[in-house]
Amino acid sequence: HDLSHANTLALPSRAERFWLARCESDVVRGVELANRHDWGITVLGGGSNVLLPPLVGGLTLRADLAEVSFAAGEEGAVHVEVGAGADWHALVRRCVERELWGIENLALIPGLAGAAPIQNIGAYGVEIADVLDWVELVDRRDGRSRRLSREACGLGYRDSVFKRELANQVVITRLGLTLSTRPSPRLDYGALGERVSDPSSAQAIFEAVCAIRREKLPDPVVTPNAGSFFKNPLVSRARADGLLSEAPTMPHYPQPDGRVKLAAGWLIDQCGLRGLRKGAFGVHDRQALVLVHFGGGTLAELLSFSEEIVDTVHATFGVVLEREPRSIQTAVA
Ligand code: EPU
Repeated sequence: HDLSHANTLALPSRAERFWLARCESDVVRGVELANRHDWGITVLGGGSNVLLPPLVGGLTLRADLAEVSFAAGEEGAVHVEVGAGADWHALVRRCVERELWGIENLALIPGLAGAAPIQNIGAYGVEIADVLDWVELVDRRDGRSRRLSREACGLGYRDSVFKRELANQVVITRLGLTLSTRPSPRLDYGALGERVSDPSSAQAIFEAVCAIRREKLPDPVVTPNAGSFFKNPLVSRARADGLLSEAPTMPHYPQPDGRVKLAAGWLIDQCGLRGLRKGAFGVHDRQALVLVHFGGGTLAELLSFSEEIVDTVHATFGVVLEREPRSIQTAVA
């Protein structure tokens, strides 16, 4: 089964075996099948945050459960249940159209809802952690469905238990979110506030976020990419102060734990790498945190290109950048 069009970086890839699950019992049967044969399971959503190898061994599974339902709660709360296969941006648009608040800043993030908690998607000052209630999944260790509370998901900056303890163990099938009919504009990130025509309208914020993203981020349909290729690094206050004494205008965001988050895009840009192209890959010319694929490249070439960037930033600033998209195991069972 060809996966070259199932990953937004358009890396050439194929799945040894592919399982399309259209309902929860299909997911359970796929998991049972993999368990019986001792195959690894790779869950593929929109393929917008993964680095696929040429051959994905074991069973590649897609949970194509796309139903969405809304239920009114107390004090303006609205509980939204969404299947893992629902398109994230379409969900955001639907919620905004219903004048629900909570995820309007997360507009235009590519991918499917089921992947959102894995990397705790976040943009413009909001993360899915802010609205997530629970995640339903099928656990391959006992073949059963269960529900994890938000607390049990261990959500952090671009991180969760699904990347750590539960990696390759579970298939996410549904999410529960709590949104609100009561306005709660979040406009503190960068220039977002200046771009919003009417801060009391979730629709206006949604539109401003879409406009900013369209200006900076390449559309994966036109120019294959996986969004930010690196995480924004966290450094000690002392290290940040050292860098700031050399470059007082460096973007920096103090964190509650005392550390300071730096902008990886700015660091790469300062090294003169924005717009750099080598072979099939390049650094996006309007946002240096995004690597783009011009076509005909391989994962190995992409990794070696990204290592050059990591090395240059390290040599210049003494900061080590960590990769953001997930690598998929190549093991063929
Ligand atoms: N900057 C530069 N040059 C660049 C890129 C950025 O100088 O080439 C500067 C900007 O001027 C700004 C700062 O760096 O002062 C931060 O840039 P930006 O606001 O574009 O956001 P980011 O930190 O680079 C993060 C997320 C994005 C998210 C935006 C908006 C990560 C890894 N990335 O990027 O998420 O959309 O904030 O909230 O945290 C993604 O994860 O795929 C993604 C696109």
